Amino acid sequence: MLCQLAKIATPPKESLPQVHEIEKLSFEDPYPAWYLRALYSLAGNLFIAAYNVEGEIIGYAAAVPKRERVCHIASIAVHPKCRRRGVGRALLESLEELCAAEGYNVCILEVSYTNWPALNLYHSSGYRWFMLIPNYYGPGKHAIAMVKLCRSQVLVEG
Ligand SMILES: CC(C)(COP(=O)(O)OP(=O)(O)OC[C@H]1O[C@@H](n2cnc3c(N)ncnc32)[C@H](O)[C@@H]1OP(=O)(O)O)[C@@H](O)C(=O)NCCC(=O)NCCS
Repeated sequence: MLCQLAKIATPPKESLPQVHEIEKLSFEDPYPAWYLRALYSLAGNLFIAAYNVEGEIIGYAAAVPKRERVCHIASIAVHPKCRRRGVGRALLESLEELCAAEGYNVCILEVSYTNWPALNLYHSSGYRWFMLIPNYYGPGKHAIAMVKLCRSQVLVEG
């Protein structure tokens, strides 16, 4: 598999099995296929995939509206063979830009408190811890909720 990032775009629905393969390779408890399809419908253009130069999907990310002006980063994963090459950060930045373009000011997410690659990615991208959620992923599997302003809020107009 080639890992050079060629483009980031919303994949067609027929590509979801490829996305699911990456999901299964990336998580101990992956989303089932039906959940990924539901996420795809809910996220709309906030469901994005990273493509290599041969048009293969090498990573994906998705966000859904949480409440007014708050965008929830629901998932991000990169094929294990293509990690540490900037694909995860490129996906996250693209998703934040799309969230901002849709009018969301705040991006939030949850991450396992033991997931150091993801914690590093988020922290170095400007996310900050705001809450520990005990047992979020199962007994003893705590999550850290993180938040970032995905664009600066206009506090004073005119
Ligand atoms: C988290 C994940 C998406 C990062 O993707 P990636 O393409 O490898 O990340 P990048 O190459 O863009 O790295 C961006 C930053 O993340 C951090 N990072 C990534 N992998 C890391 C690792 N193995 N150890 C420590 N820090 C790591 C670093 O801060 C890195 O910046 P640097 O390269 O300048 O040091 C990827 O590891 C993955 O798919 N993990 C499994 C799924 C997952 O845990 N998703 C997050 C759920 S909350």
